[in-house]
Amino acid sequence: MDKPVDERPYSPGLEGVLAGETSLAKVDGANGRLTYRGYPIVDLVQHGTYAQVAELLWTGEWPDTAHLPCAPLPSPVLVALRALPVDAHPMDALRTATSVWGAVNRPGWPPTVEQARALTSLAPSALAAFARLRDGREPIDPDPELELAAGFLYQLTTETPDPAAARALDAYFITGAEHGFNASTFAARVITSTQSDIASAVCGAIGALKGPLHGGAPSEVVNQLHEIGSVERAEKWIDEALDRGERLMGFGHRVYRAYDPRAAALRTVAEGMAGMAEWLELAVAVEDVALRKLAERHPDRALKTNVEYYAAAVLQGVGLPPDLFPATFALARHAGWTAHVLEQASANRLIRPDVRYVGPAERSLPGVPVAR
Ligand code: COA
Repeated sequence: MDKPVDERPYSPGLEGVLAGETSLAKVDGANGRLTYRGYPIVDLVQHGTYAQVAELLWTGEWPDTAHLPCAPLPSPVLVALRALPVDAHPMDALRTATSVWGAVNRPGWPPTVEQARALTSLAPSALAAFARLRDGREPIDPDPELELAAGFLYQLTTETPDPAAARALDAYFITGAEHGFNASTFAARVITSTQSDIASAVCGAIGALKGPLHGGAPSEVVNQLHEIGSVERAEKWIDEALDRGERLMGFGHRVYRAYDPRAAALRTVAEGMAGMAEWLELAVAVEDVALRKLAERHPDRALKTNVEYYAAAVLQGVGLPPDLFPATFALARHAGWTAHVLEQASANRLIRPDVRYVGPAERSLPGVPVAR
């Protein structure tokens, strides 16, 4: 094929390309630091709540207190969830609920903090309702007193969650709230840049997060530890997996070259959870072996523990079924997605990059004489 005429720089996957500006999260991969509007993630997890973090992301202000309960589901959303097959992907159920909410409420341009709040508080109710419906159980109304994470657990189980479990899931929500220009956030910003509505942007983001290259799989960490089974088996299991060219789940990251600060924060949370001691003992021992083996095999590539490793501990510890893990991550990311929608709209410019054409040169259709 002829050499492309267009010689402008091109980076597959937009890797390393600056595609916007944000004042929301700073992801410092080299040093393993993550801040939301300048505040370190570890401090936000230790001293804040998801409701405060969401307000911080949406408004730029740190409120002394904040209350963000789950919203009741509008009847058309419930009708749509009831119409889904019981084996529908939970992420599809969440996207459907968001889409129906958008069709009913028709959120206008420009997007507002109230719209962001409404969508973020709808999502846990929608996911919990779908989880119950697929098991043949009726959804229940949210408890307006409970915060988002606790309210989600309540709507799943009909029991007011243990405060420690609610706190642990809230901490997980904080670590998952925002992470720069990842694929789903970028998708939301592209959609917003056309002056489309916030529900469409979040639908697009959920669609992007559903892909296995993005949504992550803490459930695979659970399977991995289950297969390893005991500390004594860890070394052999890991060697064999690496010999087969497999990847260890919960290790490595595109951006972080140091220990993922979210993993460190969630490990502390998991250590404080009841009933996790045995699982954590195995997880910590396996992590030590895995880090040693990865360092031996990739001396030039820093492969450290990522957020999924200890997210698995927290999500399992609060009793969530593993197939709800990716959609639960989507619930947490709502604050970040919608904050990016607001940020994009506040200084909007249509996102419309160029593409390098590599197809045939201009030519005639078969049987048609060369024109002009
Ligand atoms: N286990 C074993 N080897 C790994 C690894 C892992 N978890 N992550 C990366 N590597 C190896 C690769 O095989 C590659 O080796 P090679 O150079 O011999 O081919 C080298 O390290 C670089 O890999 P690369 O794919 O370029 O790393 P990346 O930084 O672009 O990939 C991930 C990032 C997250 C996709 C990757 O680390 C991974 O697949 N991790 C496991 C899944 C996971 O935990 N995902 C959640 C992420 S939050």
